Amino acid sequence: MNNSWNLDKLKKQAIENQNFDEHVLCKSGILKYEDLKVLDIGCSNGFKTKMLFDKYDNITNITGIDIDYNAIIEAKKIFIKNKKYKFELKSIDELDNNSKYDIINLSYVLQHLEDPQKVLKKLKNLLTDRGIIILKVPDDSFKFCYPDKKDLLHKIFNLYENEIMRKQNTTKYTDRYIGKKVYNYLVGSEYNNIKLYYYVTNTIGKTREQKLNFFDSSIGFRSAINKNNVSEKVKNKMEKLLNDLKKEFEKEGFYYTMTVLYYIASK
Ligand SMILES: C[S@@+](CC[C@H](N)C(=O)[O-])C[C@H]1O[C@@H](n2cnc3c(N)ncnc32)[C@H](O)[C@@H]1O
Repeated sequence: MNNSWNLDKLKKQAIENQNFDEHVLCKSGILKYEDLKVLDIGCSNGFKTKMLFDKYDNITNITGIDIDYNAIIEAKKIFIKNKKYKFELKSIDELDNNSKYDIINLSYVLQHLEDPQKVLKKLKNLLTDRGIIILKVPDDSFKFCYPDKKDLLHKIFNLYENEIMRKQNTTKYTDRYIGKKVYNYLVGSEYNNIKLYYYVTNTIGKTREQKLNFFDSSIGFRSAINKNNVSEKVKNKMEKLLNDLKKEFEKEGFYYTMTVLYYIASK
């Protein structure tokens, strides 16, 4: 089974949200301190880690961990001469309490974990006294479009969840509706100073090309063409639904919106 993510797709998504990622980091207040230590969990090839944390001189130490072998090999190669960075092929489950971090970042990772609540409890013990956790998560209930007479959007979501997502190694535990649950998880793990930010985007004012790119990163990744363990029938059904909705995106007067949720908390 395929254990790797599509790194180009992740890069595209990263660039789209870059400004808001920075906004949330600045809002957290942590950047006023010196000698900050970062742990980026699910860092992939480190592209996004660098994009978010590199420019701050007071961030002196950045560790990235991921279970994606190819991504970590790539990260190690890219950052070989940069002593500020360390990348490890490691799962969250293997982290111990010996190192503490001022910023623990999980960008689009929490929704893929089998037991997010348990992980949040564990990570609290890895924070320094001044430390913060940043959680960037999706929630498909914050996505909608109009007009969608055939309800294509929800047909796509349902087919993906019921017939495709759970059959892939990388997404077998994924919760596409985690965004609204994270507050409860954080309270349950006794975090403090919990804050929530929303990054909302929509198709209004976008060019045709921008709308189609937006479609690909927000909806189109559910295509099953290159996925394992999915029948031809399901693959074809998904392609038809995606193509039909993509055509709607090109129409004047059609509207689509999505929201990304960012939580910050301290211990
Ligand atoms: C959707 S990608 C997000 C990558 C990057 N953080 C971003 O925002 O683009 C999820 C990443 O989390 C990693 N991951 C999943 N479960 C993990 C675990 N238990 N420990 C460490 N990394 C994990 C995956 O391998 C993958 O690289």
